[in-house]
Amino acid sequence: MIGGLMGMKRAVRAGRGIPALAGILCLILSSAAQADAALAQSKGCMTCHHAERKGIGPAFRDVAARYASEPTASVALARKTREGGKGAWGDGIMPPNPHVTEAESLRLANWILGMR
Ligand code: HEC
Repeated sequence: MIGGLMGMKRAVRAGRGIPALAGILCLILSSAAQADAALAQSKGCMTCHHAERKGIGPAFRDVAARYASEPTASVALARKTREGGKGAWGDGIMPPNPHVTEAESLRLANWILGMR
């Protein structure tokens, strides 16, 4: 760890800091996205949703595209994830998910909204 930090400092001095930091950030983000995918799986979201195509519920990518210009969408989607709802995507009804905490629902909403 210390060695890694020293290496990073050297890379920064050598002017290679930005790519090195970007690489580290990518690693952190992609492992966070994997953790979110596992959370969605464990909470049962993926029985009705897929990332790329419509299932019983809308594709998460389509959800992300629809709310791209709405800065507060994550809060609304997190609430809908917990409380369920209908009418936004056709006739399907999204059941409530009381086993999802508020923090988890926000995490899932932000993960979904990032799928563009
Ligand atoms: C039993 C099937 C089912 C499960 C399980 C399910 N969903 Fe849904 N979901 C739906 C349907 C159907 C809709 C479309 C509802 C509508 O038209 O308003 C939907 C809509 C959504 C939307 C878009 C809401 C909107 O207003 O645009 C999000 C976000 C979402 N689901 C997230 C989740 C998450 C996260 C989970 C897991 C905790 C989950 N869903 C579990 C069926 C499901």
